[in-house]
Amino acid sequence: MDTDTYLLKFKGYNFLRSLTDAERLEELEDFEIRDDDVFIITYPKSGTIWTQQILSLIYFEEHRTQTQKMETIDRAPFLEYNFRHMDFHRRPSPRLFSTHLPYYLVPNGLKNKKAKIIYIYRNPKDVITSFFHYSNLVAAFETQENLDNFIQHFLDGKVLGSLWFDHIKGWYEHRHKFNILFMSYEEMKMDLRSTVKKFCNFLGKELSEDDIDAVVKQATFKNMKSDPRANYNDILRNEIGTKNNHGHFLRKGTIGDWKNHITVNQSERFDIIFQRKMKDIPLKFIWDKNEQ
Ligand code: A3P
Repeated sequence: MDTDTYLLKFKGYNFLRSLTDAERLEELEDFEIRDDDVFIITYPKSGTIWTQQILSLIYFEEHRTQTQKMETIDRAPFLEYNFRHMDFHRRPSPRLFSTHLPYYLVPNGLKNKKAKIIYIYRNPKDVITSFFHYSNLVAAFETQENLDNFIQHFLDGKVLGSLWFDHIKGWYEHRHKFNILFMSYEEMKMDLRSTVKKFCNFLGKELSEDDIDAVVKQATFKNMKSDPRANYNDILRNEIGTKNNHGHFLRKGTIGDWKNHITVNQSERFDIIFQRKMKDIPLKFIWDKNEQ
């Protein structure tokens, strides 16, 4: 099977074919946005489910206190995917959403600075590494025989989310049209508490220090991995489907795992492209956990 079997190209951008269709995507442009909607926007494998958990903990006391056992996929569902046949129009405010959409395909209402967006980005060598393992885990993705081929696919944009460079540059260059906060996976990892506070600040949420502690505690990799509301294990096994029945969404959760997989040669070739394509984008990238 080739890439087209798995991916649906719509207006130049690759979606997961098994979870959406052109009719749904066509309707997104006019999807009605509310002032208090919040969007988590990411390129795949950049920290989406982590941010779903953090925002669920910030927004819903019943999530923070574990008095309601709702999965984060239902608290911050994907806008472009028809996952659990949820009727978004009937969801009570405030609504959280997740999406991998590029800037030019989001609902028009977002461009009027209605609603807030948190854009999470991650150093692309760790994105590649995470994505490679994920593709060989999840049934709905094309199996990748080796990392070298996958890097080429990634650089050709023949993956879910299309070209990483286009996604991040598009969002960054059009940031003035949106009410958007950029945050890196690495900053989140290095200082989760400050990240939670930055999110609260941006979102206008006032949480007590104890509540912030509760958010941070439940959003660590270790605690999320054992939290059935946040680890996607059931979804993976029972709804999405795996290729081999082992492996997790929460795989390693570190900065710099790419060094265990990407060779020096591959890395240097990538650096040349990265420097050329990203030269006008001043976002800070952290490639190693010892960097500050
Ligand atoms: P790895 O495969 O490198 O472990 P997404 O949710 O966008 O698909 O991103 C998945 C990546 O985020 C995975 O990376 C996953 O382990 C990591 N992740 C999820 N929750 C995390 C957490 N609490 N702390 C650190 N990394 C986390």
